[in-house]
Amino acid sequence: QVAAASGHTVVLVDQSDEILKKSAKGIEESLKRVTKKKFADKPEAGAEFIEKTLKNLTTSTDAVAVVHSTDLVIEAIVENQEIKNELFKRLDKFAPEHTIFASNTSSLQITQLANSTTRQDRFGGLHFFNPVPMMKLVEVIKTPMTSQKTFESLVDFSKAVGKSPVSCKDTPGFIVNRLLVPYMMEAVRLFERGDASKEDIDVAMKLGAGYPMGPFELLDYVGLDTSKYIIDGWHSLEPNNPLFAPSPLLDKLVEEKKLGKKTGEGFYKYK
Ligand code: 3HC
Repeated sequence: QVAAASGHTVVLVDQSDEILKKSAKGIEESLKRVTKKKFADKPEAGAEFIEKTLKNLTTSTDAVAVVHSTDLVIEAIVENQEIKNELFKRLDKFAPEHTIFASNTSSLQITQLANSTTRQDRFGGLHFFNPVPMMKLVEVIKTPMTSQKTFESLVDFSKAVGKSPVSCKDTPGFIVNRLLVPYMMEAVRLFERGDASKEDIDVAMKLGAGYPMGPFELLDYVGLDTSKYIIDGWHSLEPNNPLFAPSPLLDKLVEEKKLGKKTGEGFYKYK
């Protein structure tokens, strides 16, 4: 959405037409929200902006077929190293020489993903934040193999889509998640110990620390499955780090398919 809105030609790829239809609908709704604000007193210019953006965006279920004509691939599939490696390995065979590959992974090592391809110098991390149309940050991750030219292209692309890039080495969680995920897990542990209610913890962090959402609201918003993937991955890397310890409550909710806002229930219930 943000790439198309800033004049880039985008092909959105997913596994089924049904998912793509849902995504397209979500993008249209989000564009309307953005437009309402951006073109508050110019509804005609707003309608034109939506039309132009949607023209820049097509969809496909065949990543291999579309990768022939891309300059940049941004992968944002399930947080699973093997599945991501498999995808990159396949795309690497069909992508043009100059094409840069980037992953939006929240927690996996970019270096390991790059190693599944033959283009380690043209591989980096581009990590966006939910909700992407609103959040200005992008973390640009450079592995020891990422060339300076690739890194600069990723920084330029981030700016071209209207974001503010920061750079970080290929370390677990990069900057934001390395600080945010342990904080959210500490909130869950505080609640698990019965020290405070989740409602009070959320109110406390909003009114006492100025956060736009409390940790439980944010966990539900990000998705409890995604949060669990992240913490489990780090726990396996550093089993003795108490900040990365799994939470029985989080595990239970994920097992019950209470994944947060997207499934209608997580720590809270949604209509
Ligand atoms: N698309 C377009 N616009 C959107 C939007 C979307 N998906 N979601 C919200 N907005 C807009 C609304 O239209 C609204 O615009 P307005 O100011 O003109 O009315 C504005 O954002 C504010 O929205 P709301 O009034 O509905 O609600 P809030 O004031 O609470 O703002 C929020 C919503 C921007 C999501 C804010 O609560 C927030 O900043 N929350 C924290 C988000 C955060 O921490 N994100 C990072 C998560 S970590 C992550 O993503 C990393 C990953 O790897 C796990």
